[in-house]
Amino acid sequence: MKYFATTSKASGRAVDCIIVGIYNRGKLGVGAADIDAASNGRIRSLIKSGDISGATGRVAVLTNVVGVKASRVVVVGLGKPGGLDAAGFRKAVVTATRAIAKSKTRQILNCLTLEPVANSNPYYLARHTVECIGGTLYRFDQMKSGPKKAAMPLNTIGVAIAKRGDAGKATRGAEHADGIVIGMSLARDLGNLPANVCTPSYLARITKKLATGNGRLTTRVLSETEMKRLGMGSLLSVTAGAVEPAKLIVMQYKGAGRDNPVVLVGKGVTFDTGGISLKPGSGMDEMKFDMCGAASVIGTLVAINKMKLPINLTVIVPAVENMPSGTATRPGDIVKSMSGQTIEVLNTDAEGRLILCDALTYARRFKPAALIDVATLTGACVVALGHHRCAIYANEDTLQNELFTAGNNSEDIGWPMPLGDQYAAQLKSNFADMANIGGSGGGSITAACFLAKFTKDMNWAHLDIAGVAWKSGTHKGATGRPVPLLSQFLLSRAGALP
Ligand code: BES
Ligand code: MN
Ligand code: ZN
Repeated sequence: MKYFATTSKASGRAVDCIIVGIYNRGKLGVGAADIDAASNGRIRSLIKSGDISGATGRVAVLTNVVGVKASRVVVVGLGKPGGLDAAGFRKAVVTATRAIAKSKTRQILNCLTLEPVANSNPYYLARHTVECIGGTLYRFDQMKSGPKKAAMPLNTIGVAIAKRGDAGKATRGAEHADGIVIGMSLARDLGNLPANVCTPSYLARITKKLATGNGRLTTRVLSETEMKRLGMGSLLSVTAGAVEPAKLIVMQYKGAGRDNPVVLVGKGVTFDTGGISLKPGSGMDEMKFDMCGAASVIGTLVAINKMKLPINLTVIVPAVENMPSGTATRPGDIVKSMSGQTIEVLNTDAEGRLILCDALTYARRFKPAALIDVATLTGACVVALGHHRCAIYANEDTLQNELFTAGNNSEDIGWPMPLGDQYAAQLKSNFADMANIGGSGGGSITAACFLAKFTKDMNWAHLDIAGVAWKSGTHKGATGRPVPLLSQFLLSRAGALP
């Protein structure tokens, strides 16, 4: 993809498509006003006739507009004048992109970047533009037979800027978004692939492939034998019922010499049946998405590698299948984690924390500057925060705030959640150092408290992404979240933001 930033007028640029906006009560945006003037009032007359409107969600594609060099003008509703924020801006770009998704558009110039958007600037408006166009054009059809629907042949995205001086920032925003889109698309592919394709071995294979021929990237994969040698009894108890072998994947991106790395750990349960504590049948297919934590940290590493950020990043993925069988772990079994702490497995469906705790203990050897695990950990998190925000836990306020801010700035939002002794006490076991479930109430919090027992003296945070990693229903599919939040965190840590 090629990117450009331009100060030329909306009407004056010969591209396949320009995007302009109008507000309620007939107020024209900057680009729309220029188009209107160049075309003898075409925009105003279409507003009068009701064919276009400023209402949010409304969109129309105009072709052959006289006085305008672009072959298509997409006019999108921006709602209340003066009320546009980054989320509204993103929605408008998505709406406009959908309207032309079936066309043969090769170049898009987004003129919405000239609108006043609350708390934004040319860098973020360019980034949102490219992220939203890329995300909207994403398709997953590799498992369907027959001829594939031709994708839109888009090769150039431009953003309008008010002054020359903004060009550098806007282009940088577009280029960062390019990396984020590539990372999100990979994360979505991995999430969408069925569990009979995307196995722990498959994840090991593709992560090795990502590193081959790349001087900054290495991938190491530990086998079950090696994990046994390390004492990862908790992780291995989850894979006990599965035929597919478990893998521990370790990827390292080196962009900053000998600095301590940020370490991301992603839950990679390639299918979660619940094990002997079997899940109900309806909707169980969605548990192929239980590796979206893994997918998002791998996707983030790919994004950071594409941006060539000056930072060190280590990604650890414990990858397992959670299956019931004669060899599976039983409720009540007691296992020993790599940390030495023993765990009574009261429910084999609380398996995410069992693999994460050993991966977090393993992460210690990298002396992380920050350690962040990402997991589709609990249904309770979905009850608490729904599908809009992920839960952000941390044993340290600065890191929690840093992640909260990263979510806000990238429009991949989260919400700070508490830890605490009262919640941790729910994990008491009569027989082992702790139980793997915390009983009724605060299920996302007690899961986080469980992980906190393995990250003492480390700068640690945990993202419960159960509500945001995928969509159910007619739009069922992986979202690629929280690749933008994590990328933003790393962009900020690397000092790469304007
Ligand atoms: N992968 C699930 C969490 C999940 C459930 C994510 C539904 C998204 C939608 C996790 O392994 C799990 O099963 N958690 C249990 C924990 C319980 C047994 C304490 C849950 O949330 O029900
Ligand atoms: Mn489970
Ligand atoms: Zn799970």
